[in-house]
Amino acid sequence: MISAGGQPWRWMGVMLPLILAAFLHQSFATVATPTPAQTTAAPHKDPGRPDRGKYNVTNSNNTVCLLAYMGLQLNITYNSTSQNKTVQEVVNVQPNVTLASGSCEADRAVLELKTDANKTVLTFVFTQNTTSGTYHLSEASLTTSVLNLKEGNFSAKNSSLDFLQGSLGYSYMCRMEQTLTVTQNLSINTFQVQLQPFGVSGNAFGAAVECQLDEDDMLIPIIVGAALAGLVLVVLLAYLIGRKRSHAGYQTI
Ligand SMILES: *[C@@H]1O[C@H](CO)[C@@H](O)[C@H](O)[C@H]1NC(C)=O
Ligand SMILES: *[C@@H]1O[C@H](CO)[C@@H](O)[C@H](O)[C@H]1NC(C)=O
Ligand SMILES: *[C@@H]1O[C@H](CO)[C@@H](O)[C@H](O)[C@H]1NC(C)=O
Ligand SMILES: *[C@@H]1O[C@H](CO)[C@@H](O)[C@H](O)[C@H]1NC(C)=O
Ligand SMILES: *[C@@H]1O[C@H](CO)[C@@H](O)[C@H](O)[C@H]1NC(C)=O
Ligand SMILES: *[C@@H]1O[C@H](CO)[C@@H](O)[C@H](O)[C@H]1NC(C)=O
Ligand SMILES: *[C@@H]1O[C@H](CO)[C@@H](O)[C@H](O)[C@H]1NC(C)=O
Ligand SMILES: *[C@@H]1O[C@H](CO)[C@@H](O)[C@H](O)[C@H]1NC(C)=O
Ligand SMILES: *[C@@H]1O[C@H](CO)[C@@H](O)[C@H](O)[C@H]1NC(C)=O
Ligand SMILES: *[C@@H]1O[C@H](CO)[C@@H](O)[C@H](O)[C@H]1NC(C)=O
Ligand SMILES: *[C@@H]1O[C@H](CO)[C@@H](O)[C@H](O)[C@H]1NC(C)=O
Repeated sequence: MISAGGQPWRWMGVMLPLILAAFLHQSFATVATPTPAQTTAAPHKDPGRPDRGKYNVTNSNNTVCLLAYMGLQLNITYNSTSQNKTVQEVVNVQPNVTLASGSCEADRAVLELKTDANKTVLTFVFTQNTTSGTYHLSEASLTTSVLNLKEGNFSAKNSSLDFLQGSLGYSYMCRMEQTLTVTQNLSINTFQVQLQPFGVSGNAFGAAVECQLDEDDMLIPIIVGAALAGLVLVVLLAYLIGRKRSHAGYQTI
């Protein structure tokens, strides 16, 4: 009798923590995302979460060779003439007014994003390493003439970066916000990234490899789920032992 009744219990013991884990992960994710909009300490207007752009670069023979879907936020530090002080400007890249172009070479892929009527140019250079079977963001630069600078145009460039590392043949994915520090005066916040700078075939992303940040984010609900599974097992065991005892008790009477 106990063994027959054990099947649904065993099923629940496995499924309940999984359902709870999935639910908890959802709630963690929704709690974690709106925080940037709530920071009031910033001296400047908070632009909120940037819209996700779908940027792609097309080859000379009309095939897509680079795909980058991501939300971008620029954090620029400069000496403002109008305000007569050093300011930190946080601006979102608006996909609907941004034009993507670039080039794809054997070991080097370039994504160029132009906005503000071409007065702002943001460039990403990806490099591949066939020895290690990886690619990464190796260079980023920004030039813009829309800010009110003492020194003229703002420009920042770093050619020795090592961000957004992916595996050749796969796309790189990172749902969590990341900060790419380019120079002392420029950092780029990325949101909801999926990109592939090499080996795009059929105009579509290859299978995605998730970044470490996302994996860590997944770990919390897994640990919570495992703890809950343990708890359910303990309760279940206590219940079954209790039942067996009382059952045995009836038989002796
Ligand atoms: C043209 O497209 C093919 C894939 O369809 C690619 O292998 C080749 O490198 C492309 N050639 C140029 C010049 O872009
Ligand atoms: C912008 O960068 C500064 C440091 O340079 C940092 O204190 C600030 O939190 C950053 N803001 C955002 C929204 O990333
Ligand atoms: C960037 O920062 C450095 C010092 O950290 C400063 O000397 C330089 O003028 C800054 N450049 C711009 C364009 O703001
Ligand atoms: C602002 O100007 C001062 C000197 O006038 C300089 O030392 C400083 O590096 C500049 N900061 C930036 C962010 O350009
Ligand atoms: C800018 O600020 C400095 C002090 O921070 C002051 O000495 C200078 O006169 C100011 N310049 C202008 C044009 O307001
Ligand atoms: C672009 O999108 C933003 C909202 O994300 C909107 O405020 C703006 O009006 C749009 N601009 C154009 C030219 O469509
Ligand atoms: C911006 O540059 C692109 C070429 O990269 C060109 O097609 C476009 O017409 C330019 N837009 C303006 C407003 O100059
Ligand atoms: C600033 O950039 C604009 C293009 O956006 C260019 O025409 C101008 O010459 C630049 N000025 C300086 C001082 O570099
Ligand atoms: C490519 O990767 C290999 C192995 O990780 C490394 O030894 C080599 O220095 C890398 N090459 C470049 C150009 O980064
Ligand atoms: C460029 O990036 C590297 C790695 O993040 C950093 O060590 C270096 O200081 C940066 N260079 C400049 C000019 O900011
Ligand atoms: C390229 O980008 C446009 C949006 O700018 C998008 O509609 C299109 O689907 C993209 N192409 C591919 C192959 O993803």
